[in-house]
Order: sequence, then C-alpha cells, then structure tokens
Amino acid sequence: MSEGRRRALITGITGQDGSFLAELLLARGYEVWGLIRKASLFNTQRIDHLYQDPHAKDVRLHLRYGDVTDGASLLRLVQEARPDEVYHLAAQSHVQASFQLPELTAEVTGLGTVRLLEALRQAGLAQQARFYQASTSELFGDAATSPQDEETPIRPCSPYGAAKAYAFHIVRTYREAYGMFAVNGILFNHESERRGETFVTRKITRAVGRIACGLQERLYLGNLDAERDWGFAGDYVEAMALMLQAPEPVDLVIATGQRRSVREFAALAFERVGLDWEEHVEIDPRYLRPAEVNTLVGDASRARELLGWRPRLEFEALVARMVDADLALARREAALRP
Ligand code: NAP
Ligand code: GDD
Repeated sequence: MSEGRRRALITGITGQDGSFLAELLLARGYEVWGLIRKASLFNTQRIDHLYQDPHAKDVRLHLRYGDVTDGASLLRLVQEARPDEVYHLAAQSHVQASFQLPELTAEVTGLGTVRLLEALRQAGLAQQARFYQASTSELFGDAATSPQDEETPIRPCSPYGAAKAYAFHIVRTYREAYGMFAVNGILFNHESERRGETFVTRKITRAVGRIACGLQERLYLGNLDAERDWGFAGDYVEAMALMLQAPEPVDLVIATGQRRSVREFAALAFERVGLDWEEHVEIDPRYLRPAEVNTLVGDASRARELLGWRPRLEFEALVARMVDADLALARREAALRP
C-alpha cells in the first residue's frame, strides 16, 4: 500500500455505479482516477458535478482516455495512477443488447477484466493494488434454487452472463495463482435516477414522468412477469468499498432479499403520479429476450456477517425517488417546448 492519500482507479466511472462510487471515495478523501471512453458526444454527465479544475491546487479527480479493449491504454493508466484500489466496473452491461453484440460483449465484459489484471501485473502493482470485479447475479442464469448465494452454481444464460462468468473465474484464478487481493462482488440489480434509460426500472420511471407531463402516451415493455431483487445503487457502491477493506479477499453476494416483478414496479411508479399503469403500458415482443432469466433474488447474509453491510433504501422509497427525479426532468423538458 502506498504512503499518504489513498488512490483509487475506477473503470466505468461515467456509468451509474462509477458516478456514485467516485462521489463516495472523493468524500472519504481518496484521490480518484477514472478511465473514460472517447465518444463523439460528451459522456461525463453523471460525473460533471465532481469536476475539478485540473490546474487548481490539490486536484483529487483525474480522468484519462482509455478503453478496456486497448491493453496499452490500461497499462499506461495504472502506471500513472499507481492505485491502492481498483474498481473494475467498465462493461457492455445490457443483457438484451448482448444477444445482438455477443462478440463485443465478450471482448469488453469478459476479456477487459484480464487485460486490466495483466496491466497491474506488468506494472508491478499486483501485490499493492486491491481489485474489485463487478460481478453479477446474471452469473446464476435462471437458477434452480432460490434465493441465490455464494454457493449457487454459475450457469449463465446470456452472452453478457457468459462474459461475466469468464471474468469471475479469471479474478479467482489471479487471486489463487498470484496471491492478489482480487474479489468478485456478485451484485443483484441496483437502480437510481442515474440508471441508463434502457434498463427496465429507469425506462418505466422516465416514461411515467413524460406521460404525467403530456410528453408521451404509451410505454412499451417486454416480460412483465420477470422478477428481480432491486436495490439502490448508492447502497451497493458502499458494499464495493467495504469488500476492498476486508481482512481477506472474499467473493460476496450483495442483494436486498426482496423479489418484485416488473409489473409491480410499473404499478407503483404510475401510482406515484396518480395514474393507472394498465391504461398506458403495452407489450412489445421486441423487448422479449431469446433466453430470459425469470427470477433472481439474493441472500446477502454473508456480506452482512463479514462486512456489516445491509441495504438502506427500501423498494418503495427507491421507486418514489426515481419517479420524483424523472418527473422533475420531464417538467424541465416540457418547459423547453415551444
Ligand atoms: P453502466 O451504467 O452501463 O456503466 C458502464 C460503464 O462502462 C460506462 O462508464 C461505460 O462508458 C463503460 N464502458 C463500456 N464499454 C467500455 C469500454 N470498452 N472501455 C471502457 N469503458 C467502457 O453500468 P452500471 O449499472 O454502472 O454497472 C457497473 C458495472 O456493474 C458493470 O460492469 C455492470 O455489468 C455491473 N453490474 C451492474 C448491476 C446493476 O444492476 N447496475 C448489477 C450487477 C453488476 P460510457 O459511459 O462511455 O458508455
Ligand atoms: N431492459 C428492459 N426493457 N427489460 C425489460 C423490459 C424492457 O422494455 N420489459 C421487461 N423487461 C424485463 C427483462 O426481460 C428482465 O427480465 C427484467 O425486466 C430486467 O431487465 P433489465 O432492467 O434490462 O436488467 P437485467 O436484470 O437484464 O440486467 C441488469 O441487472 C444485472 C444484474 O442481475 C443489468 O444492470 C446487468 O448489467 C446486471 O448484471
């Protein structure tokens, strides 16, 4: 571990989790290094509020271009940042999209992890840097047992899940082969007002806001019977940080233990603005998947025991928070209309 202020590197810092994690670590006094992709449009909206003038004194947030498909960019970054903690969150993270982009998903979501682990080894940082891998409940696929925990067999049923399964195993392999402090956080679904708009919860709350403001009439969804264990992203990034402070590197499930259907989420979200979801939601078969994970619900007892972690924001409060934020957004959108 290096002297002085702790240094964290976050890949995927521009994503939902990356933005909450950067906030948390900066608030705790860390120096934070973030890998961002070169895009044709700005992609830093979720972290713009954390921006610091790079010429000011005592800058603690450093952003560098790179890509997890470009090993040289990863090596350069870890050599410059010399992190004590690495949070590897970058991924092609959309399950349905992974059926249309299986090869890209394997490259980014699977091989990206081993490229970063190798960059740390090549830079001579394998023993200094603790490594967090953004693993997922999608590893379990349509599991035969419920709830799922650390002993549940890994049997993914999407190209995304298969790529994450490779990443899971390569992290464990590097831990055992090279003695790295490298862990898999097996996180169940977690959401917020910063969630990407094509994931079902945000798709619903965004539509609720727009429908309430008269900007949209209908919401098209796929499988309403799917059940997920939905928590709040702000709570889940705390678990990530705790996993890297633990005395031993241990893979852990992070979940609420509560199972809700897409239908229940939609009903509650529409109810928040006084609307009946059934008058606005229609099924569109384009949102059905070639293979569906019908139900996921996690048992996070081990994380509670080892880390003292527990989720704070309840399901109803999460839905309310997301709807309220998207209603405010839709009102601003409506105000800009001629
Ligand atoms: P997200 O919002 O989709 O963010 C993904 C991040 O990865 C973005 O910053 C994205 O950059 C970056 N990225 C994508 N391709 C990249 C590439 N080739 N090189 C470098 N960066 C790349 O995902 P999230 O919800 O924050 O989730 C964070 C991580 O946790 C992901 O690995 C996800 O698979 C995993 N996970 C999420 C959940 C969940 O419920 N949210 C549950 C379990 C596991 P751009 O902004 O430029 O697109
Ligand atoms: N995206 C989406 N869009 N999903 C829909 C829709 C729709 O219109 N209608 C129904 N669903 C159903 C999906 O079929 C799925 O069963 C469920 O809603 C949740 O879909 P997503 O919100 O896309 O999330 P996910 O569970 O597939 O994947 C998310 O959680 C994983 C953890 O279990 C992602 O964040 C992954 O990156 C993460 O690993």
